[in-house]
Amino acid sequence: MARVSTERPLGEITGQYDRVARFYRAFEPLYLIFPVARRKAVAALGLKSGDTVLEIGAGTGRNFPYLVEAVGPSGSVIGVDASEGMLREAGKLVKRRGWSNVSLLRQDAAQLQLDPEVDAVLFSLSYSAMPAPQRALAAAWERLRPGARLAVMDAGLTETRLRPLLDPIAHLLIRLGPGNPYSRPWEDLAAYGQVTIERFMFIYYVCTVTKPRAEKVADGTL
Ligand SMILES: C[S@@+](CC[C@H](N)C(=O)[O-])C[C@H]1O[C@@H](n2cnc3c(N)ncnc32)[C@H](O)[C@@H]1O
Repeated sequence: MARVSTERPLGEITGQYDRVARFYRAFEPLYLIFPVARRKAVAALGLKSGDTVLEIGAGTGRNFPYLVEAVGPSGSVIGVDASEGMLREAGKLVKRRGWSNVSLLRQDAAQLQLDPEVDAVLFSLSYSAMPAPQRALAAAWERLRPGARLAVMDAGLTETRLRPLLDPIAHLLIRLGPGNPYSRPWEDLAAYGQVTIERFMFIYYVCTVTKPRAEKVADGTL
């Protein structure tokens, strides 16, 4: 099936998120974003106490309560986002909750600059909202520890029986703001390993891939 082009420049995308950042939480029920989707995404990462988890396109930090709980006080959460407005809201949340193990980085994920290796990577509702998601995926994968998981949670219409019903709404949403409901991240993830996909609530999915412990070299030996 042909891909739908929704590509916008990053500055336009961050500008839109900057404007809605303060209301992002209130919009969630409207966009059918429920805590169950966040819980499933975090569960797919297989986090343990003491882990370091990287969220790409972390936004206002709506996954942080689940991530902080999963890694515990000895672990850490790194949230990367390109929108100043979204990160400002995330910063307020971090301060309010008194989390000393959450750090926020304002960066374009396609040009990720990060020193530490991480124990998990999460893209939550962000892969479909990025102008160059494959580049962001490659950059995050590079920082992922061998044996660790990368998960993409998002909503989309490509595999749902409700597509004929929801197509007109999706086309309206594409015109209104960032986000590609026809994104197929599992196809990009397949270049890195075996992909597991969990689908739920008609339009949601979490797809997960584990980084091999040893990358195969060109002649096929380990
Ligand atoms: C729909 S929000 C999702 C926020 C959060 N992950 C959540 O689950 O609520 C998408 C986020 O991706 C961010 N984003 C889009 N393109 C990006 C890029 N190239 N680099 C970093 N963040 C980006 C936006 O600024 C926005 O905060």
